Amino acid sequence: MQGDIERVLFDEPAIHKRLDEMAAQIAADYADRELTVIAILTGSLMFMSDLLRRIPLPLKLDSLSVVSYHGQAQTSGEVIFKQLAVPDVAGRDVLILDDILDSGHTLAAVREKLETAEPRSIRVCVLLSKKKRRVRDVNADYIGFEIDDEFVVGYGLDFMERYRNLPYLGVVKKELLEQPNR
Ligand code: IMP
Ligand code: MG
Repeated sequence: MQGDIERVLFDEPAIHKRLDEMAAQIAADYADRELTVIAILTGSLMFMSDLLRRIPLPLKLDSLSVVSYHGQAQTSGEVIFKQLAVPDVAGRDVLILDDILDSGHTLAAVREKLETAEPRSIRVCVLLSKKKRRVRDVNADYIGFEIDDEFVVGYGLDFMERYRNLPYLGVVKKELLEQPNR
């Protein structure tokens, strides 16, 4: 598995250091409120678990399962929710957690869905954001790292459902992206 990685972008200490900073910022911003965190699975699992343990506030945790990639490295634009019910976030201060903001399709769809439940506020927190232009007009309020337009895996992020369990964030070798079943 390690042999499929071209280079490491952020190792575990670098990720944890950044999470300390993000958690401190979020804890300060929501100090007198009660957060409802909605994590987008599966990619945000590691990020969610490491970030939330650094936030010493009372909060509710829920998740949404979303598919947008259909196994390829290119987004299809279509976002499919695996469950029909919208989390009950009426009147709540919602923080959406996702692994990466790329085209913006996923976060735009999730945001729209949650807005139908009339929360008090919605903010978006992502571990990674690609600097390229978005297809959808959606911004993140908290961003771990801005990265170039490269395909990143590890620490929750997958390519064809693999590599999520790597403890660091890395770039997959180009030839693998082109010939995944080699
Ligand atoms: P968007 O809908 O194009 O913004 O993409 C968001 C979703 O696509 C993320 O939640 C990831 O699951 C996936 N994704 C986008 N870029 C990458 C990447 O570089 N590596 C792994 N997954 C990615
Ligand atoms: Mg994915």
